[in-house]
This record gives sequence, structure tokens and C-alpha cells, in this order.
Amino acid sequence: MSGDGTGSSGGTSSGNRLAVDGLIDDPKTRIIVCCGSGGVGKTTTAAAIGLRAAERGRKVVVLTIDPARRLAQSMGLTELDNTPRIVKGVGGNGGGGNGGGELQAMMLDMKRTFDEVVLAHAEPERARAIMENPFYQSLSAGFAGTQEYMAMEKLGQLRAAEEWDLIVVDTPPSRSALDFLDAPNRLGSFLDGKVIRILTAPAKVGGRSAMKFLNAGMGLLTGTLGKIFGAQLLTDVQTFVSAMDSMFGGFRERADRTYQLLQAPGTAFLVVAAPERDALREAAYFVDRLAADRMPLAGLVLNRVHGTGAPQLTAERALAAAEALEENGSEHASPEAEVLAAGLLRLHAERMQVMVRERRTRDRFVSVYPDVPIVEVAALPGDVHDLDGLRAIGERLSGSAD
Ligand SMILES: Nc1ncnc2c1ncn2[C@@H]1O[C@H](COP(=O)(O)OP(=O)(O)OP(=O)(O)O)[C@@H](O)[C@H]1O
Ligand SMILES: [Mg+2]
Repeated sequence: MSGDGTGSSGGTSSGNRLAVDGLIDDPKTRIIVCCGSGGVGKTTTAAAIGLRAAERGRKVVVLTIDPARRLAQSMGLTELDNTPRIVKGVGGNGGGGNGGGELQAMMLDMKRTFDEVVLAHAEPERARAIMENPFYQSLSAGFAGTQEYMAMEKLGQLRAAEEWDLIVVDTPPSRSALDFLDAPNRLGSFLDGKVIRILTAPAKVGGRSAMKFLNAGMGLLTGTLGKIFGAQLLTDVQTFVSAMDSMFGGFRERADRTYQLLQAPGTAFLVVAAPERDALREAAYFVDRLAADRMPLAGLVLNRVHGTGAPQLTAERALAAAEALEENGSEHASPEAEVLAAGLLRLHAERMQVMVRERRTRDRFVSVYPDVPIVEVAALPGDVHDLDGLRAIGERLSGSAD
């Protein structure tokens, strides 16, 4: 069950194996965050872990972000309503399982989460004015960093509700895994920042000559900005920020608070990466960053690793055999069978070369980060778009497949 380190996918025993079941079974684990660069399998991993944890008896909510349509449907996520729903067909939900657990899932709706923040903090009339503000509308609909900010905001809300004993969080499809940690602060400091502060309060400055000078400079600045962004937008920003500012303690502060949640005991980060150079380089940056920020790393999920049914046959030997067949033929086979066999041998050779490359990339990571636990998840033949697919990923994550 634990730490066997000898997966028949041909894994080297270098590096220690990440014990996913140990992590999800531990009642002290309250939040699991799946991070990684774009397209590596964050959403799939988050959903698979959530499902597995539920089927092993925990009460779980998975916060997904932009899941593929079919995967969303298989989890009963047909509309973006920003609240967790029970996923049907999960063992433990009366679906035939014996764990007594439950899985709920939701898709993050950025705009709605933003609206909820406003509604929770403003008088209804004020809230409406904010929500009708054009600057607010463009901000909440997808300003750079808004999705990351809102994912954290939602995580904070889910945690505060105390309804689940495990929250699994997917992260937005950013180019870099670091964006998840950086964006909320960047957005927070932009909204709380000096420029905005000055923009929103130019009228308060005045009086003494130095101030007049500053004021003239500010006038120039606002004038220039006005030309660039349009005077109306500037007014929108000013009204919006001053309304928001008086409403609650500031964006920066909120981002900071959720940040603390991520550092708290009970939170575990999983870095997901493909066994490719760029993805692993990103993963390495992220591992360093977590350490610098004192955030707990559970380990690395190496996703979509290739395997073969015939690991003994090297690429070189397969290629040599293909060439021999093509040149000399075989006494025992028809010409058609020879062509087919040679083709298969070449395919196998290619696969072996991919595997060697992946192994080397992985080993390089392990040599730099020998203490980071790793689990390899095989590339499945097709997309992962239903509960069975998620279960298959879950088994691979826990090392109970094969
Ligand atoms: N182990 C696997 N085997 C086969 N297909 C996989 C595997 N893991 C993920 N996939 C597929 O790869 C695609 C991308 O996966 P996923 O959406 O989970 O990545 P992501 O990191 O969330 O991407 P984004 O950064 O866009 O959010 C999906 O179609 C998914 O079904
Ligand atoms: Mg995703």
C-alpha cells in the first residue's frame, strides 16, 4: 500500500513515492491545491483526488476551474451557478459505495464570486451601484489575475463554511504555476495601490505650494491617463474604488488573509507536471517558491507518463529488427505481415525513445529535489471525461493500478 516505489510502469526507485492515499485519508488534511503550468492535468488531478477521497469516506468538495465540458457534465456540473452540488454515482452517496463519504463539485464563476463579495459587504443599493459600474464589470469579467484572486476568495468562503472535511482546489489555466500565488497580490496591490489611491482622491490634495505642484502633476497624469483610457473609464475607476474601499478592508488585505490560509497546517500543495523539460522547470520554480513562502508541498504528480508492454525490447533492437525485416524479409511471413511487423517495431522504438527522454527529465528533477515525493500517472489511451476515467486516474495516483 505505501511507499513501494517499484511500479511496473518501469519507474526507477530514485526519489520517494508520494503516498496519495495517506494524504487524502489523513483527517488533518483539509485543503489540497493542485497547481502546475497550463494543460498538464490540474483539473483532472483535482477531480480524481476529490472522487477518490470521497469514495474512501471523506466529505469532499472540489472547486474546479474551466473544466472540459464532458468532464463537467459527468460530475453533474451543467450550469455555472457557483455553488457546490452533490456528484451522483459516487460510492458513499448511496451510490453503492461503502465509505460513507460524499463528493460535491462546483465550477468557479468569477463574476458571481466577485458579486458575492460586494453583496456581502455593501448595502443593497450601494452594491447595485458598484455592480453596474462599467469598470467593475470589466474587472470582474476577467482582468488579468481576477480568476486567481477569485479562486482564492472562493477557497476562503468554502473553508469558512466548515461544511466539508476536505476541499480540493483546481487552479486557473495560467501559463505559469506561479501566477496562482502572484496574481491575487498583484491585483490586490493594483486596486489598493498608490496610483489608484491618488486617482481616487485628487481633490483632497491641495493647499500648500508643494501640494499645488503635486496637484498640477497629478492633473497632468490624470489628463494623460484620461487620454489613454478615456475620461469616462477613469471616472468609473474612481467611483468604483472609492465605493469598494469604504466597503471593506481592501483587496490587498483579503488576498493576504487567504494567503495565510494556504500556509496553515492542513493545507497541502500538489504540483502537477508533464514529464517534459518545460513543465518540470515550471514545477521546480514552484517548488522553490512554496519553500520560500513556507507553504506545505505534498509532492509532485508526474502526469501522462508513457509506458510499454515490452520494456525489455530497446529502441535500438526494435529498429534493427525493423530494418532487417524490411531488407531481408522473413521466411515465415507474408510480405503484408512483414510490413505490418516492421511498422509496429518502429512504433515501439519511438515509444521507447519517448520513455527514455521522460525518464531522463524526471531523473534530472529528482537529482535536484531528492526530497520531493513523486507519483507517476500513466497516460491513458483517451481523454478523462467521466467518473470511471477519474477513478482510473485515482488508482494510478495511489499506486493501486496495474
Ligand atoms: N493521465 C492522463 N491520461 C490521459 N489524458 C489525460 C491525463 N491527464 C489529463 N488528461 C487529459 O488532458 C487534457 C488536459 O487536462 P486538464 O484539463 O486536467 O489539464 P489542466 O492542467 O487543468 O489544463 P488547464 O491549464 O487548461 O486548466 C484533458 O483532455 C484531460 O482529459
Ligand atoms: Mg484546468
